[in-house]
Amino acid sequence: MAPPSTTSDWSPSSWRTRPAAQQPEWPDPARLDGVLKELAGYPPLVFAGEARDLTAALARVVDGEAFLLQAGDCAESFESFSANSIRERLKIILQMAVVLTYSAGVPTVKVGRIAGQFAKPRSAEIETVEGVSLPSFRGHMVNDVSFDEASRRPDPQRLVEAYHQSAATLNLLRAFTKGGFADLSRVHHWTQEFVRASPEAQRYEQLADEIDRALRFMKATGLDPEHVPNLHEVDFYTSHEALVLGYEEALTRQDSLTGDHYDCSAHMVWIGERTRGLDDAHVEFFRGIANPVGCKLGPTATAAEVVALCQALNPDRTPGRLTLITRMGADRIAEVLPPLVRAVCDADHPVVWACDPMHANTYTSPSGRKTRHFDAILSELRGFFEVHRAEGTWPGGVHVELTGDDVTECLGGGEALADDDLGLRYETMCDPRLNGRQSLDLAFGVAELLRDRPV
Ligand code: PEP
Ligand code: CO
Repeated sequence: MAPPSTTSDWSPSSWRTRPAAQQPEWPDPARLDGVLKELAGYPPLVFAGEARDLTAALARVVDGEAFLLQAGDCAESFESFSANSIRERLKIILQMAVVLTYSAGVPTVKVGRIAGQFAKPRSAEIETVEGVSLPSFRGHMVNDVSFDEASRRPDPQRLVEAYHQSAATLNLLRAFTKGGFADLSRVHHWTQEFVRASPEAQRYEQLADEIDRALRFMKATGLDPEHVPNLHEVDFYTSHEALVLGYEEALTRQDSLTGDHYDCSAHMVWIGERTRGLDDAHVEFFRGIANPVGCKLGPTATAAEVVALCQALNPDRTPGRLTLITRMGADRIAEVLPPLVRAVCDADHPVVWACDPMHANTYTSPSGRKTRHFDAILSELRGFFEVHRAEGTWPGGVHVELTGDDVTECLGGGEALADDDLGLRYETMCDPRLNGRQSLDLAFGVAELLRDRPV
């Protein structure tokens, strides 16, 4: 293993000396260089100060004084890019956050998988259909999902398009979250409409009514959401898997205030399960940026590996800097998570523990579609809460793939979507996402887990 490195030998391009997994094979390196130079001259998408605010918010999660909700698309699309789709995703996340905040009794830190989630790691480089082999789809930042040679050829111009779509998305998110759309009473009103229409109405009604009473109580005491900024506006942060390192490097800027480097493509970025090799390029890039960062951990992660990742990514042990996003599978979590939690605690590393209950519960249904069952998703979350309760650590957050659209990609939920329903509106370019109603079903499920907690 390489000796612990210091940031003095780091630069935004030092990752280039390491093996970089999951990078596209760009056919024309000179064109790629031209595009990256162009991007390096563009304005940052976020500011260093905002990333620092998120680190501070996540530090509260480390202490059990806040809860993290990280949610959004598996892969954002250049095609289904509209104000509507951004608004619907934000709306669901805000609704989930209200339910979680009320149940946890602490603030919910809201982080979207949005405004930059355009690159996907793939288990196979090549996809073969009826004897024809082409490069796999790697996200709209790289190539297109259609199965023909031109669509699958990586095109660096897509990096520029990803930048512009991220900028436009962020612009709208900022307007929505600060311009009255996120008003607490209004968000709760949407949730009440959902509860009324839900087959699980009886189960959810009590919680929704309690929130309603709390809102009326606040209003009666003179705290009118319309006039109290905290009830009228929300802080909403962006995040994505920083997979295509050339793009991330091109958006890295040195903060004039602190001299630190920030990857200004998003507030928070994470390392995926397939690219977390300790001596590899992604860990090298991430160790030098000052953003809050995440790292996915699958069931094969060993305690020694996880402690080494904490050491590499957060040597100063800054609370809020590192979020470990575990994605173990409903069947495995009880067995594989406790040794990791113990090792990180013993090594005295402050981390946010978040649960991604999606990625290790994916399977192919009898109808041949890649899906996830709502019950397995909730069951992994239940396991996550149980492990952290038993270990005395705070189950700090959830990380989910969802869309506000009425898709039929995951099975189950309040409306009990069945395998036969998957064909109705199966629209994802990559992994199956919870639809709006299933996302709220999940929030109510997590609310029950949060409310069971000893005070
Ligand atoms: C993802 O979050 O979309 C993803 C690919 O996850 P993982 O790296 O955990 O497989
Ligand atoms: Co995914």
